[in-house]
Amino acid sequence: MKIVYWSGTGNTEKMAELIKDGIVQAGKNVQVINVSNVNIAELLEDEILILGCPAMGDEILEESEFEPFIEEISSKVSGKKVALFGSYGWGDGQWMRDFEERMTGYGCTLIDSPLIMQYEPDANEQECIDFGKKIASE
Ligand SMILES: Cc1cc2nc3c(=O)[nH]c(=O)nc-3n(C[C@H](O)[C@H](O)[C@H](O)COP(=O)(O)O)c2cc1C
Repeated sequence: MKIVYWSGTGNTEKMAELIKDGIVQAGKNVQVINVSNVNIAELLEDEILILGCPAMGDEILEESEFEPFIEEISSKVSGKKVALFGSYGWGDGQWMRDFEERMTGYGCTLIDSPLIMQYEPDANEQECIDFGKKIASE
């Protein structure tokens, strides 16, 4: 499995690492990949996509790397199972509702409700780990 994420100040990256811990605890292999290093052809060989991006701009995905990545995979992900996560600040999670709607619009099925955390995941580490375990059980 692969977790692909963008993170400016490390909060979404921390979530990615904790989700990885949950997947590993459940006995599966997983790589955590910064979106700037992702090999899209390899990623699309997988049946499950685990994607993380914080709320940026005005309730949008990060525009210079993550948004182009999603655009690039958009026509190639129909039928895949996806798990979405990310950190946010002062909003109400609209960016993630939009992200979910987009991915289902591209023909993906959500494994679980998206996992969102305000700023650092520190107080909610177990939730991230459990999210990973849920993904691993698919
Ligand atoms: C340029 C910028 C725009 C942001 N826009 C939003 C926003 O629209 N809604 C929101 O809830 N948080 C917003 N935030 C807060 C981030 O989502 C929050 O700090 C998050 O923890 C960053 O995650 P990261 O550490 O993975 O980069 C914004 C932060 C920055 C730097």
